[in-house]
Amino acid sequence: MNATAVIDIEKIRTQFPVLHQKVNGKPLIYFDNAATNQKPQQVIDALVSYYQGYNANIHRGIHTLAEKATKAYEETRHSMQKFINAKHIEEIIFTRGVTESINLVASSYGRAFLKEGDEVIISGLEHHSNIVPWQIICEEKKAKLKVIPITEIGEIDLEPYRKLLSSKTKVVAVNHASNSLGTINPIKEIIKLAHEVGAVVLIDGAQAAAHLEIDVQDLDCDFYCISSHKMYGPTGTGILYGKKHLLEKMPPYMGGGEMIKEVTFAKTTYNDLPYKFEAGTPNIADVIALNEAVNFISTLGKEQIAEHESELLDYAAEKLAAIPGVKLIGTAKEKVAVQSFIVEGIHPFDIGQMLDARGIAVRTGHHCTQPLMDRFGIEGTVRASFSVYNTKTEIDELVEGVKRIVNFMKP
Ligand SMILES: Cc1ncc(COP(=O)(O)O)c(C=O)c1O
Repeated sequence: MNATAVIDIEKIRTQFPVLHQKVNGKPLIYFDNAATNQKPQQVIDALVSYYQGYNANIHRGIHTLAEKATKAYEETRHSMQKFINAKHIEEIIFTRGVTESINLVASSYGRAFLKEGDEVIISGLEHHSNIVPWQIICEEKKAKLKVIPITEIGEIDLEPYRKLLSSKTKVVAVNHASNSLGTINPIKEIIKLAHEVGAVVLIDGAQAAAHLEIDVQDLDCDFYCISSHKMYGPTGTGILYGKKHLLEKMPPYMGGGEMIKEVTFAKTTYNDLPYKFEAGTPNIADVIALNEAVNFISTLGKEQIAEHESELLDYAAEKLAAIPGVKLIGTAKEKVAVQSFIVEGIHPFDIGQMLDARGIAVRTGHHCTQPLMDRFGIEGTVRASFSVYNTKTEIDELVEGVKRIVNFMKP
């Protein structure tokens, strides 16, 4: 395995136990990082240490274990605040991940502030998680959902976006980076334009958190959503960032324990932020372990990670494009390390299965972006997505695998 950037890939790989196994008799090559990336030992250790040493419910207990668990849980909130440069600690809400964060905003903000005739704008690049919650609330409130078109290389077309914006636009919801094509969107510009017409902006940061610097104050976004499991952390948790003044005026999303101040049968008063949006026992262990994922990323440095991944992406794109019959889908100028492709005459699913037989894990299908696949007139793609622990040698294996499949399937 060869290292490409200044970071020591061999050393990094030793921190990921899952990578050191054979799949179908071949060393595992994991290129499904956009779906979920692997977890370093320090994240796994944090989970074990919580369950072995101080498993307790948080906030309500006054005993030692409960206090220790509460402190560790709240430490992650502080880390996430720093990670995205949020101004106030109350702006960090723990959720199950991006899907729940978007549903929270669509339900709570949408229900309180959208009305008949209002418009919500999303882009043609969105994951179903950033489409369906808006469809649901638009239907309920008789608001209209509008979609920014995508160019042939997979970029958001800003000209039509400008034309879609009007005083009717109340929400703009787009991703920071596309999970299917890797496109990094010009979100600062998108946010600025939306604010000019008085709309609030939600950014789906699922594919950005592990790769791109996020500064919510500089971006000036109103909401930003992150999933822990796409940034080396455990599944089942993530955050919603929201500007304090907006979160304060939004009604609760779920009712239950922890989100209340006082309950009587006549009336309930709600807790302060962020607890107003954290009903019930949260995912304590996973939130605590997320702190270690932040530490892992911070120790390496996002710039270094991005540099390595971008080298891998360029290398893979060039080699894959050179294979006869292969067509790259998504060739935007600015991309995270995701490369989708199709092969003439061969179904993506068959390619995925044949690569799996060689120990190579890729994702095939529509990647929860069916409207985007429709835009390109395809059913789905093969998607290879790269992470900090991947190498060019692994990409050579992928390219060799695709070449063999192409030759084998030739009519
Ligand atoms: C761009 C994007 N948005 C939203 C999601 C949903 O994230 P989660 O399933 O972690 O809630 C994903 C997951 O693949 C994604 O890639």
